Order: sequence, then structure tokens, then C-alpha cells
Amino acid sequence: MHSLTLFPARAVRGTPQVPGDKSVSHRYVMLSAMAPGESVIEHLSSGADVAATIACMRALGADVVETGPGVVSVTGGTWRPAPDALDAGNSGTTMRLLAGLLAARPFRSTLTGDASLLRRPMGRVIEPLSAMGARFSSRDGRAPLVIDGGRLQGISWTTPVPSAQIKSAILLAGLSAEGTTTVVEPAATRDHTERALPLFGMTCEVDGLQVRVKGGQRPVPAGAPLRVPGDPSAAAIWAAAATAVPGSLVRLTGVALNPNRVGFLDVLRRMGAEISLEQDSMEGGEPVGTITVAHGDRTDTSIAPAEVPGVIDELPVLAACAAAGRRLEVSGAGELRVKESDRITSLVNGFRALGVNAVERPDGFVIDGRIRASGGQADAVGDHRLVMAFAIVGMSASGPTRIAGADCVAVSYPAFERDLALLTA
Ligand code: S3P
Repeated sequence: MHSLTLFPARAVRGTPQVPGDKSVSHRYVMLSAMAPGESVIEHLSSGADVAATIACMRALGADVVETGPGVVSVTGGTWRPAPDALDAGNSGTTMRLLAGLLAARPFRSTLTGDASLLRRPMGRVIEPLSAMGARFSSRDGRAPLVIDGGRLQGISWTTPVPSAQIKSAILLAGLSAEGTTTVVEPAATRDHTERALPLFGMTCEVDGLQVRVKGGQRPVPAGAPLRVPGDPSAAAIWAAAATAVPGSLVRLTGVALNPNRVGFLDVLRRMGAEISLEQDSMEGGEPVGTITVAHGDRTDTSIAPAEVPGVIDELPVLAACAAAGRRLEVSGAGELRVKESDRITSLVNGFRALGVNAVERPDGFVIDGRIRASGGQADAVGDHRLVMAFAIVGMSASGPTRIAGADCVAVSYPAFERDLALLTA
């Protein structure tokens, strides 16, 4: 396993090209694989998670060809049983959304993943998809999942936790069900599936926290090449790093400014960052623009439960930003315990190993950054978001930082180390 060593940064400055958004990439690849004919996708995420989705689509009969850097042509519409178990790797989005698609296919499929994914809860998709008529067997609500798909009946389902993955799995199944399928969420989550459906000739109806799809919809290939916007979760790394380190200024271009994804900007503003935002265009169904972030005064803040769904993937880098001179209290974030790792325990352990004053709570954590981090060695425990968070702590620590198991960063951001070197040079 590869480890990453970094030294205190004098400043974080530059204009990194953030990778294509991971969530949007999964959806464009899956929807293209549903549509009979060719769709072209540009600026696709090059991370291992999206590569897992592509491999699953190929195993199910789609023809996916890389025609240039970040450009794929997907010819879909001919789903056949996969010869072997479909391997979602580390990717919860691949497994849960694919479970929704396979629930409606009249054959048996097996979905598996890496050790982390096999620990994550799947009952949250098994229950609604079973209520629609699919048959599942699992290891006590965990993968491997064996799915016997077939004719589905539309349902109305209230999700127990705010989760775009659960919502999307049910909506994708609902597209092929009889009648209407409605999902009601306890709080708004990312809406990339809803925004992507019209690009493939399908519709959904959004009414507050309810989303409805009619069954029997037939996807058509995207009429023009679809460009995946820059990943706001990747942009958040550099935004948090710039907020943490005095003298920093970063400009992030071509980033998805979907309101469900940029909640981290409000938190960084409260922490003292100077931020400006310009929306330039719409790409596919997503607003896209430029975010500029400069270091500002250090101020304390908290993240309350209502704000958590909008910053769920950014909490580690926000915590790392707080470790540079601020206090941050996070509550209502118990979902972090069922991410790629138990992100509360592993974040607090790693931060403490780097000399940060961090306290674990059942549903969150408290970071007190008034005493400067020392640096040291932290273990990423196979979780890509922790590599990025520990790197930000390392930038403002007093001594060197070593991150063990840093190669897992390739799950979402293979060029992370290159961009880190460029921005801190
Ligand atoms: C995602 C939804 C979120 C997020 C994950 C990607 C998606 O998960 O944490 O990284 O693409 O729908 P949950 O839906 O489980 O909260």
C-alpha cells in the first residue's frame, strides 16, 4: 500500500481542474446503458467507483468504449444476465442504483463488492425493491445480494434516512414498474437522477420532498454528447484547504453548482472564507460555474442535523479545515458511520494521530483547532475522503504528515496527489 507524505504548506494557490462528478457519471453511464443506441459522455469521472459501474454495464451487455481521455461511447438497450457476480468494488452508488435497475430485469443477478461495501447496509434498498415485487437474498441485509428481478408494481415509499442512493434505486426501478412510483424523503438529497432523466427522454415530477415517476417509460439515447460537470466534492477539498491555510487563493472552474451539493460553501463562509460564485452555464441538467475561495479570519461554527444531507461527503474536509484554528461541532451525522468506513471513528482516530483535539460523539464529532496539529502518521483505512481530509490537516500542521493507505484516493480523484503538489508548490 502506498503512503503519502506531506509537509506544512506556505499557501494553497492555483486553478486545479477538478475531475468529473462521480454521482453524475454513475447516472449517465447507467442511463446510457438502458437506452437502445449510442450515447456519448465527456469528462467522465476517471475514479475507480465509476470504472466499477462501467464494468458492470459491460457484463450486462452494454458496449462501452473509451474514445478519448474522459470520453466514452455507450451503446445500450440489450440487457442480458451477467455471466458472473457483478462487482461494485468500493462503490455504494453502483450497488444501490444497480439493484434498482436489476429489480426490473427478468433474470437472476448477483451483486458483490469489496470488504468495505460488504459491511454496508443494503436493507434500505432491499425493502422497497422487494415491496415492488423483486426477490432478494442477502447476508442479513448486506451484500452479496442475489436479485431475482421481474415485473414490478409501483409503490409509494417514505425513506427512513435522507439518501439519494435509496431514492434513485426506487425511481430507477419505478421507470419499468406498473403504475406510478413515489418516493418521499425526510430531507432533500442530491437530485442528479431527477435532472438526468429528461436527457434520456424520460420524466419525473418533483413536489417538495416527493418525487414521482410513471412506469413503462422507455429511455432514448442522449441526443448530443453529455458533459459531466466538475465534482463539487473534489472542489470542496481545495476550497477547504484554501480556507485553512493563510495566504491561499483557489479558483475552481467548471464545477457543478447544484444547490444540493454546494452546502459546504456556507460552512466555509461561516468559518471565515471569502468566497465568490459565478454560474456560467447549464451542462446536461446541472448548473455549472466558477468558485473562488480565499483564506479569511478564523471563526468557530457548528453543523446542525438539518444541514448534514447537503454536506454529507464534505464533512471530513470541513473538519480538517476546522482543525486549522477553529472549533467545529457536527451533530445529526450518524450516516457517516455507514460510509466507506465508520467515518466518525476513523476520522477522529486519524485526526488525533495528527495531534488534533477531536472528540467522537455518537452522531458526530467536535474539532477544537485552537491548538495547532503536530503532524504524524494517520491511517486512511481504505476511505478516499479521509486521505483528502488528513492531507488538509497536514498542510497546516507544524511537522510532516504521513498518510498510510493513500492509494484509495483513486476511488474518486486519481489525480489528487498531482493537484496537491501543483497547488502547494
Ligand atoms: C451518492 C449519495 C450519497 C453520497 C455518495 C454518493 C449518490 O450517499 O454520500 O457519496 O451518488 O447518490 P447516500 O445516498 O447513501 O447518502
